[in-house]
Amino acid sequence: MAYTAKDYGSLIGMGGFSETLLKNHFTLYQGYVTNTNKLMDLLAAMLGEGKVGSLQYAELKRRMGFEFNGMRLHEYYFGNLGGTRALGRAGKLGKKLAEDFGSYEDWERDFKGTGMMRGIGWAILYQDNVIGKLFNQWINEHETGHPAGCIPVLAMDVFEHAFITDYGLKRADYIEAFFNNINWGVVEGRLKQAAYAGSS
Ligand SMILES: [Fe+2]
Repeated sequence: MAYTAKDYGSLIGMGGFSETLLKNHFTLYQGYVTNTNKLMDLLAAMLGEGKVGSLQYAELKRRMGFEFNGMRLHEYYFGNLGGTRALGRAGKLGKKLAEDFGSYEDWERDFKGTGMMRGIGWAILYQDNVIGKLFNQWINEHETGHPAGCIPVLAMDVFEHAFITDYGLKRADYIEAFFNNINWGVVEGRLKQAAYAGSS
């Protein structure tokens, strides 16, 4: 079954993100969906043709990490935008962030600091599915650094295409705009309380 690009057109008009930037970003996202489908088809065909041992198969297999994560991370990213309200500190997520980072403010400082790291990639708040802990992680490009068994809770794209149209090299200003538009309801909904609490 092929992947289908989701429509995030409802994000157009949110503060701090121009229509040009968002439309270009949607187009890039659609490219990852197209390439993920193409790669899956090509690899299936090569399997059928007995080419599993070939260099071409190995390189296409490697490529899947980039294209698939490029697709899926953009879905987390666009999906956690479009919000208009600040995080309620007394809610489930607010409490959990304070518990795991000492305070909400410490979490925010760490997340923004992760996003400011030099390089292209992602800052992601993950929840470890085994013990339930929240932590911020840097992902290099789309595929390097994902912690196994963890669920992305909040994803922030820090490839230059995510901000350079509107902010030039001022990544910190883009990160502020991102924070102003986080859909905390969606983010909180990604928390899985049942996944931990002593499970083995
Ligand atoms: Fe992107």
